[in-house]
Amino acid sequence: MKSAEIRKRFLAYFQKRGHTAVPSSGLVPKNDPTLLFTNAGMVQFKGVFLSEETRDYTKAVSCQKCVRAGGKHNDLENVGVTARHHTFFEMLGNFSFGEYFKKDAIRYAWDFLINEVNLPVDRLWVTVFENDDEAAIIWKRETGIPENRIVRLGAKDNFWSMGDVGPCGPCSEIIIDQGPGAGCGRAGCAVGCDCDRFLEIWNLVFMQFNRSASGSVTPLPRPCIDTGMGLERLSAVLQGKLTNYDSDLFTPIIEAIEDLTAVKYAGGQNPLDVSIRAVADHARAITFLITDGVLPSNEGRGYVLRRI
Ligand code: ALA
Repeated sequence: MKSAEIRKRFLAYFQKRGHTAVPSSGLVPKNDPTLLFTNAGMVQFKGVFLSEETRDYTKAVSCQKCVRAGGKHNDLENVGVTARHHTFFEMLGNFSFGEYFKKDAIRYAWDFLINEVNLPVDRLWVTVFENDDEAAIIWKRETGIPENRIVRLGAKDNFWSMGDVGPCGPCSEIIIDQGPGAGCGRAGCAVGCDCDRFLEIWNLVFMQFNRSASGSVTPLPRPCIDTGMGLERLSAVLQGKLTNYDSDLFTPIIEAIEDLTAVKYAGGQNPLDVSIRAVADHARAITFLITDGVLPSNEGRGYVLRRI
């Protein structure tokens, strides 16, 4: 399935279920000095989560341009080294503003992956925050996933915050086992390992709190849902590829790099492949950043762009 088709299917799936399709916002967050770049689909809805702002819908779906190259979410050093990290990527997400919570978020995500894009159910795992018994019970009851494929992890993996301040909450991830060939091969490699074998494809955040500048965490007025699935990862998985760079989102760019440099990309087998991947990733990031009005400079956003 081509990435353009996946993007369309995702938006349509949630629109059919009463979600309003909201266009991606720009990469420079509006009126938010706490954030360098839009780093997730939820950023444009921050005020709605905090009940500071209302919209004429309570459920939304989007495909959001994101940059993770500065601030709390910074993947710059991993780019090219792993099969899955990017400075720029597109995040598919569905959102509920006080409307539905854990049960429906889990049901929608599972149904989309199993029945809409036909992922093999026996290769899927899920994680929940260590003390989130409720989420674990819902996973088991609503999806029938065996209990030994529900893994409890700590805050590093299963508590999501947009930045040092702002909405946050425990989360639950859907992981696909890409097989030993994709992994590090170390003893103890399992869900939660940093290698590419157990690939996180979708993160469901149960938005329940707001973190203030002093670090204190207070409950949100209404529990909300914020989810994010990387279009690049899902495209690679659905196209039977083990790295995002082999998906249709990257192959034309890599071919252009091959033409310009007369160096052949060897799918990760050649030491130069890390550089080719980084160039492909960075070309996308700088193109979208400049298009969204950021220019290279010595400070702030412009400095991150210059560094990329
Ligand atoms: N906001 C969540 C994330 O970026 C969904 O993972």
